[in-house]
Amino acid sequence: MYTSKIIGLGKYVPENVVTNDDLAKLMDTNDAWIQERTGIKERRHIKKGDGNSTTIMGVKAATIALDRAKLLPDDIDMIVFATLSPDMYFPGGGVEVQHLMGMRTIAALDVRNQCSGFVYALSVADQFIKTGMYKNVLVIGSENHSGGLDLSSRGRGVSVIFGDGAGAAILSRSEDKTGILSTHLHSEGEHKDQLALQGPSTGYWVPEIIADNPQENIPYYPVMNGQFVFKHAITRFAEVINEGLEENELNVSDIDLLVPHQANLRISQMIQHKFKLTDDQVYNNIQRYGNTTAASIPIALTEAWEEGKVKDGDLVVLAAFGSGFTWGSVIIKW
Ligand code: UT7
Repeated sequence: MYTSKIIGLGKYVPENVVTNDDLAKLMDTNDAWIQERTGIKERRHIKKGDGNSTTIMGVKAATIALDRAKLLPDDIDMIVFATLSPDMYFPGGGVEVQHLMGMRTIAALDVRNQCSGFVYALSVADQFIKTGMYKNVLVIGSENHSGGLDLSSRGRGVSVIFGDGAGAAILSRSEDKTGILSTHLHSEGEHKDQLALQGPSTGYWVPEIIADNPQENIPYYPVMNGQFVFKHAITRFAEVINEGLEENELNVSDIDLLVPHQANLRISQMIQHKFKLTDDQVYNNIQRYGNTTAASIPIALTEAWEEGKVKDGDLVVLAAFGSGFTWGSVIIKW
């Protein structure tokens, strides 16, 4: 069995910065509420005409990651693309990445696990490398939330949280046993309606939506039972981090850097407190980007790496929780 290692990271966020005050012009909210409840100061939104889409942002992040990995498009054997906001209902974004990056006719797989999407995608890529089937896998997390949010007061409980952006990692066969030590994935579909976008879908097509036209709960915008999700997130984050540490006979004190999915700064802080980690041991950037779902971990990991916070030999832990519910962790010896 081989080990897989992250050898290149990249990120891309749209230039358009949307502050809390900008949102307060559109809905009944305010900077103090958003910062106090979420830690978010600003996020990025794609601007109409700026040329970005979920796939395009993914390609931009992937191009940087590929360059840093010192690989060429021809070296990639598989694309795993995680998003909840694909450009089209089908096909998924992976195939367009293959085309736009001029890659061979390699495997392209789309992962739909929302906030846990990148952790799931890394795990999938890791399995293909471990078995020896592929040598280099491009893993992308990219989201275009802004176009699908209810930016009126009705949607304020959800729409202030999410932002657009993309991150990418090149996972490669490791010869020296460093890299991903283990991945741990979970789901609990009983809670699928607690954070969801109901339609348009095969369960709720456009004509039905138009016929119903409910004023209060419009199904083509995401809905979230915030407090319910929050409580489950705290529990599951802690469980799945512990699971990963135990599997590898490691302790919390072995963690050099925890990169949690950027769901809410309060969630990250509660996890930090629970594990008694210092500020230096937990990387957060939700303040600047909001929650970018499948893109949040690769964006954060890229920035941590760029800032020199991820060094050879470090124990890096990734953990995510979100809609589904799905959650997971990745334990990495860098
Ligand atoms: O990434 C995937 C997983 N997602 C998460 O982990 C998100 C988890 N949940 C959360 O982060 C938090 O629950 C939220 C940030 C979404 C909400 O914070 P909260 O402290 O749970 O607030 P709440 O929903 O209980 O709402 C408190 C009050 C309500 O008003 P009343 O009923 O007390 O009068 C809301 O209507 O805050 C009101 N409110 C707002 N006020 C100003 C809700 N959204 C806003 C807003 N601005 N944007």
